[in-house]
Amino acid sequence: MRRRWLAAVAVSVAGLLTLTACGGSGDKAAGGGQSEQKKVEVFSWWTGPGEADGLKAMREIFEKGNPGFTFYDAAVAGGSGDQARALLASKLQANQPPDTFQGHAGAELQGYIKAGKLEPLNFLYDELKLKDVLPQELIDQISVQGQVYSVPVNIHRSNVLWFNPSVLKDAGISEAPKTIEEFIADLGKVKETGKIPLSIGSQWTAVHLLESVLLGSLGTDAYNQLWTANADWSGANVTKALENFKTILSYAGTPQEDWQPAAKQVADGEAAFNIMGDWAYGYFHNPAPGGLGKTSKTDFDWAASPGTDGTFMWLSDSFTLPKGAPNKDGAVAWLKVAASKEGQDAFNPKKGSIPARKDADKSLYQDYLAWDLEQWSSDKLAGSIQHGVVANDAWRTEINDAVGLFQQDQDVAKFQQALIAAAKNSGQ
Ligand code: GAL
Repeated sequence: MRRRWLAAVAVSVAGLLTLTACGGSGDKAAGGGQSEQKKVEVFSWWTGPGEADGLKAMREIFEKGNPGFTFYDAAVAGGSGDQARALLASKLQANQPPDTFQGHAGAELQGYIKAGKLEPLNFLYDELKLKDVLPQELIDQISVQGQVYSVPVNIHRSNVLWFNPSVLKDAGISEAPKTIEEFIADLGKVKETGKIPLSIGSQWTAVHLLESVLLGSLGTDAYNQLWTANADWSGANVTKALENFKTILSYAGTPQEDWQPAAKQVADGEAAFNIMGDWAYGYFHNPAPGGLGKTSKTDFDWAASPGTDGTFMWLSDSFTLPKGAPNKDGAVAWLKVAASKEGQDAFNPKKGSIPARKDADKSLYQDYLAWDLEQWSSDKLAGSIQHGVVANDAWRTEINDAVGLFQQDQDVAKFQQALIAAAKNSGQ
């Protein structure tokens, strides 16, 4: 089958490198004693419920196989890495990289590569024969001129509509909405019951919602076109998509602190719908204390986000070897675990994602994850905005700002102008 992968694009790093540090848990103590040498600083944003379970599973394998190294969890809290990515930019700018960091395959990673911040990993790809087990199209997203710069650990799906079956039933809705129009009608029906039609989290979750609404409104080809040299952000189809976004947002509940409390409102029956990536599955499904220990189809259910059935809006978490990593050997040891079948099969069922490797043990991926694997093999592809595939960090940040302003003023025309300007400024 012919997969439609978006070409990774060149990146202007100005925005990336001017982001401000915002603090975090991961700063190394000064000094370079022996134990410091052994410490492997792994930078991610997987601290919260659900996410941390996946990291822990991979960490355990690392620790078992590498008694000579100490895993140092430099995760910075905040879903989607909004805080983490800003802090990372300042660390890289100051040439104080962690030993390895999480970066999204696609435009985001290309930004780090173009800025000269990463070591190529061809030696590791050769040693572990990774080109045989990772999809070539994914390798293309993390390569420049034949050099590969990261190890992808998973594939996540962004365009998932999570819903509470009982809340829908009480509102007289018999199945998940298939189109944006049906979705808007259903949001209205839920509103009449007094429940929250759509739960929402912090600022970035609105951008996450936007990417699904753009895809569902425009269709896959027109959405993918927005990230090419022929993009036209000024079209009437984009205006209509933004109007849909405005209408959908008008049904959103009070913004929650992050994606987990917003997802929880659905699992607890306070809200009907939430559009969120499939890390939400790990959170719903994993047993307490990491997850909510909920039962799928009863406590929560899922469908493709409205208007996007047949398209997989993808993203992929990958780990890197930064130039100047204080503990290169330790970082490589971590990358080996991240690249391994054992590591990916421990990490992904907990994380709510499917493995990047093609040879993973399929029997470990049940329930939502079995559906996910199936969709991944048959769907058309579109890349996520918020999670680094189609827009570099500078562009994504501008889109975030535009969404933030729009949430205040609700002015569609102004919003569209801001998105046109963001595309122009992106330099991608
Ligand atoms: C994404 C990341 C996922 C998950 C999500 C929510 O950017 O790729 O692994 O962590 O944010 O935090």
